[in-house]
Amino acid sequence: MENNKLEQLWKQMTTREKLGQLLQLTPEYFGCEGKTQLTGPSGLIPLEERDFGLVGSVINCTDAATVERIQRQHLNRSRLKIPLLFMADIIHGHKTIFPIPLAMACSFEPDIVYRASRIAAVESAASGIQVTFSPMSDLVRDPRWGRVMESSGEDPLLNSLFSAAAVSGYQGEDIAGEESVVSCVKHFAAYGAPEGGREYNTCELTDQTLEESYLPAYKAALDAGAKMVMAAFNTLGKIPAASNKHLLKDILRDRWKFQGIVISDYNAVSELMAHGVAKEGSEAAALALEAGIDIEMMSTNYLDYGEVLIQCGKLREEWVNEAVFRVLRLKNELGLFEDPFCKLSREKEKEKHFCAEHLRISREIARKCPILLKNKEEVLPISGREKTGLAGPFAMSRHVLGGWSAGNEEGISLYEGLCAQMEPEMLVTAACGELGSLLDGKTDIPPFDEEDLKEAFRECRQVIVAVGENQNDTGEGASKAVLRLTKRQEQLIHVLKAQGKKVITVIFSGRPLELAPVLDDSDGMLQAWFLGSESGNALADLILGKACPQGKTCMSFPYTTGQIPVYYNHLRTGRPREKMGTGRYASGYIDCPDKPLFPFGFGLTYGKGRIKRAVLKKDTQLWLDVTVANEGNHALRETVQLYIMQHTASIARPVKELKDFCRAELLPGEEKNIMFRIRAEMLCYPVAGEERFEPGTFTFMAGLDSENVLKQTIDISREDYEWIKRKDYE
Ligand code: BGC
Repeated sequence: MENNKLEQLWKQMTTREKLGQLLQLTPEYFGCEGKTQLTGPSGLIPLEERDFGLVGSVINCTDAATVERIQRQHLNRSRLKIPLLFMADIIHGHKTIFPIPLAMACSFEPDIVYRASRIAAVESAASGIQVTFSPMSDLVRDPRWGRVMESSGEDPLLNSLFSAAAVSGYQGEDIAGEESVVSCVKHFAAYGAPEGGREYNTCELTDQTLEESYLPAYKAALDAGAKMVMAAFNTLGKIPAASNKHLLKDILRDRWKFQGIVISDYNAVSELMAHGVAKEGSEAAALALEAGIDIEMMSTNYLDYGEVLIQCGKLREEWVNEAVFRVLRLKNELGLFEDPFCKLSREKEKEKHFCAEHLRISREIARKCPILLKNKEEVLPISGREKTGLAGPFAMSRHVLGGWSAGNEEGISLYEGLCAQMEPEMLVTAACGELGSLLDGKTDIPPFDEEDLKEAFRECRQVIVAVGENQNDTGEGASKAVLRLTKRQEQLIHVLKAQGKKVITVIFSGRPLELAPVLDDSDGMLQAWFLGSESGNALADLILGKACPQGKTCMSFPYTTGQIPVYYNHLRTGRPREKMGTGRYASGYIDCPDKPLFPFGFGLTYGKGRIKRAVLKKDTQLWLDVTVANEGNHALRETVQLYIMQHTASIARPVKELKDFCRAELLPGEEKNIMFRIRAEMLCYPVAGEERFEPGTFTFMAGLDSENVLKQTIDISREDYEWIKRKDYE
């Protein structure tokens, strides 16, 4: 529809019709109970019959037949025939499920998220979904928070690259394209920093921390073209995000010039009352609209109070108009006025959902995500030709998709994956009882008998023990205070070790768990995460050596929960342990190590990578020239990482920050040179939206993780910086 026609339509709308466009409801309101995955408090908000035809969008309706039915019914009720927009949480796949986002980030390959999101777009567009509430670009430092599974970890550069890749994948070349969905980046801002890791809790950050660590990924998603933003639930600086003008106006609209739609999170406008910044619904509506929330998700304050607020001058009509115009514009850009059923196709659903090609790619991607945390005496990969035990709650479990899998039930179990590639009689199973969810009051696996175990695994030298946490105990509303494996799972590992087995521990989880208690008794340790539809097949590929693990931790694994938050890019202290020694007055713990169990960027491969040399070179550019070698007997895929530290500046700078990384594939005995080009932006930090450079001493570090690095230190003057900057543009 041409813009002037859109304007004409808009002029015909009553204020109430406009307010309706700003309301988003679940399919229940359209008589489709059970056709949605409820993602917030249940219970229908009362809505009068006459208002049903006004609603602007629907949340979490996930199949073409239901979308079609609701749209048809709606067009009969809508006076001006304004089609609905359908939005849903397509987080790591629609039907074909990919690894959870945290796992995908461990690949250090943003391209896999691009590919997964492209497929998710193809599958969900066929189901009539026009917008996905993804990516979640929230930086995270606290694995107690259940939603770390949806994030890409603790590093702003990784967060930014993965967010941008997801947006490009979802939206494709053109959002109106048949195989594209609009991306809504969330949760703006800092939702990933709840105090104590407790869901929906207060966030307190300095402006500078927000600026440096938390904002970059949202910005990267917008730069990649994301058309929508979801405001967070939390308060920041004591103002809930849904009424936070500093975030939504100063930063989002004024500084970043964002023109798209801002949507509240589920019921978050009403929750302004619970936060205690609004006395009643009318006040909540006025605060949220003024701050810049265009669409109200799952509460009706705009519709209930909007007209009265305008009449009594408490709400400027132009705020409503601007919001409505943004909604209509997106509907128009998607071509909904011409064809309200565009993209939706039941045939295509049949053809594309779970098609062989999508499953093949899901498996390929899933192989890149697990992290090899330990491999004593090269216990992995196993040959598959000797009797191997398989135990633990995730040995046979098909509940391995990970949260936010929209009504999908099962993936390939580890057992099925191994059986497909080994003679089934080579696999012996015992103590495979499942682990239920804490939310259902299930606190541990069924008891097992030590003698039975001994008997079952009599002929096995090695046992794979698949342990972890129930997938429902991760994701939204699943904060935990204790990150250890359950008692019986830890016992299982200890008992098998005591029975003289080589123990290969495989961990299924949506967050870094506390693994120190089982580290010594595990000969091999593979962090599997939740890998989606092809989970068991991908794990079997790694365990049997058909593929080489390449995952690197995108979040530090705490030694113990009491260390949290523990992250690699922290500031220095006045009394660092390294300088103060073991004496009393150093920054550290007296009852546990200061460092995490596994640092950011860590992950082994079947080969043996080593950084042999890192030298700064200045010719036509400034480079860090790094030599990496494979000193092992297997081919490897390594991720070489570049970190930088600025020694002195007018504000304290982190001990190191990831600035670049590069994949190296090496045959046994092979060496390669990697040239990291130092760009001007790597030497700066942001202050109020501007990049600031301060001359001084910089240390450049190359490593295969963030701890073990080779260093080179130089002074960089303003002239040097200007020279580097000029080279960036040449
Ligand atoms: C979550 C969002 C999600 C929304 C809609 C909320 O509870 O915080 O991430 O997009 O529900 O399902």
